Amino acid sequence: MSLYSIILAAGEGKRMKSKLPKPLQTAGGKPLIDWVISAVTGAGAEKSIAVIGHMAEKMEEYLGDRVVYAYQREQLGTGHAVMQGIAPISDKDGSVIVVCGDTPLITSEMIKNAYEEHKNAGRAATVITAVCDNPFGYGRIVRNNGNVVKIVEQKDASEDEKKITEINSGMFIFDIKKLNSALARITNNNAQGEYYLTDVIEILISDGESVGAYITDMEQILGVNDRIQLSLADELLNRRNVYALMREGVRILNPETVRVDEGVKVGMDTVIYPNTILEGNTQIGEDCIIGPNSRIKNCKVGDKTEVQSSVALDSEIGSGTAVGPFAYIRPNSKIGDDIKVGDFVEVKNASIGNGTKIAHLTYVGDADVGERVNFGCGTVVVNYDGIHKHRTVIEDDCFIGCNTNLVSPVTVKHGAYTAAGSTITDEVPADALAIARARQVVKEGWAKGKKK
Ligand code: UD1
Ligand code: CA
Repeated sequence: MSLYSIILAAGEGKRMKSKLPKPLQTAGGKPLIDWVISAVTGAGAEKSIAVIGHMAEKMEEYLGDRVVYAYQREQLGTGHAVMQGIAPISDKDGSVIVVCGDTPLITSEMIKNAYEEHKNAGRAATVITAVCDNPFGYGRIVRNNGNVVKIVEQKDASEDEKKITEINSGMFIFDIKKLNSALARITNNNAQGEYYLTDVIEILISDGESVGAYITDMEQILGVNDRIQLSLADELLNRRNVYALMREGVRILNPETVRVDEGVKVGMDTVIYPNTILEGNTQIGEDCIIGPNSRIKNCKVGDKTEVQSSVALDSEIGSGTAVGPFAYIRPNSKIGDDIKVGDFVEVKNASIGNGTKIAHLTYVGDADVGERVNFGCGTVVVNYDGIHKHRTVIEDDCFIGCNTNLVSPVTVKHGAYTAAGSTITDEVPADALAIARARQVVKEGWAKGKKK
């Protein structure tokens, strides 16, 4: 039996006050609608239809061919939206999950369980519900002898119905053909003059079909309507990611200050100190110390490495290496094992061989550095001539004196030294010492003469 999904995402999302459509706002590191798509796909939906209207071009631009589109030019209600969404699959046998594009906390496990129950009970419709303390604004699940009989909207509810605390999440699983037949019979004869999807429940029951509810928790169905709910969703999604790492054996201090994108991997016994951000495609090994105050994005880090108060982007860092405090590893750097990249060191598009020390106040850009090289304080790889970037090579076992400028392109061969304060413009042969600075001149008594 085929399973499809319809994602309702045509609404205006007025309260967000944004130039972006609501489903494209991000929480937990990705747009809201991505969470929804992964949840339904993970639950087995083979095709998703996004019902779009408001800022449709932006939605299409972002989603590309990951979904099929149905257009709802005028927002005449959730029932009207599903009528558009069902059109591309109305001749199919199977089931359809209806979800909203602004509920990023739904999980595939929850949908899977609801779908299992739906199939096993042979139902025409399953509404996903939750029980909450403050049901105001939600549609209420009206039951009789425990059986669902209808859903009534806040604005249409009687005083007694308003007291019901079981609410409609807005998510459903339907038999496609039966949904289609019921949709053809809904009207907009209600308090809001809208075509309510919720009305199909009563219609299916009057057709003698079996209808039921799957009760989940409020977190799963949290909808995002404004920036405050967006930050709440963000926090909850982030917490899931942080807790997932803890379950894998990562020690995280003050977890509420740590941000972890979905998919980030961290090895056992690594310690993450407060105010650390791990983003994108990042993989960190075991026994590392990360943070405090570090941001690592799209990086692969080995074992027993320390990254303190530093930023590392799109790079690789080996094992047993110490980075920071206050280092900046810019994209396309490959830093090996047992290296020190100390305070106020910037590395960009450079490879650094094992055992090299760049202890402080140094810029290494567009360079290939060998193993066991020692950089004195204040070294600059002068990689840019104002028009082009050039590459510099420093071979194994070199010693770069303090305050050396290496004017690229230039090569310092194996085992060579540069004298402190040198501006190196020509190749330094292996095992040589290059001194490239003016000799000191001493003018005896000069200062005394000036003071007179
Ligand atoms: C709906 C349900 C309500 C449920 C609540 C859960 C109906 C009639 N009511 O109420 O029972 O408790 O969701 O949040 O279904 N949308 C469109 N086109 C439209 C209208 C809506 O695409 O014409 C989309 C919206 O973008 C949104 C979703 O459908 O993603 C829900 O719409 P919304 O207006 O928030 O529904 P409610 O009236 O809050
Ligand atoms: Ca709503």
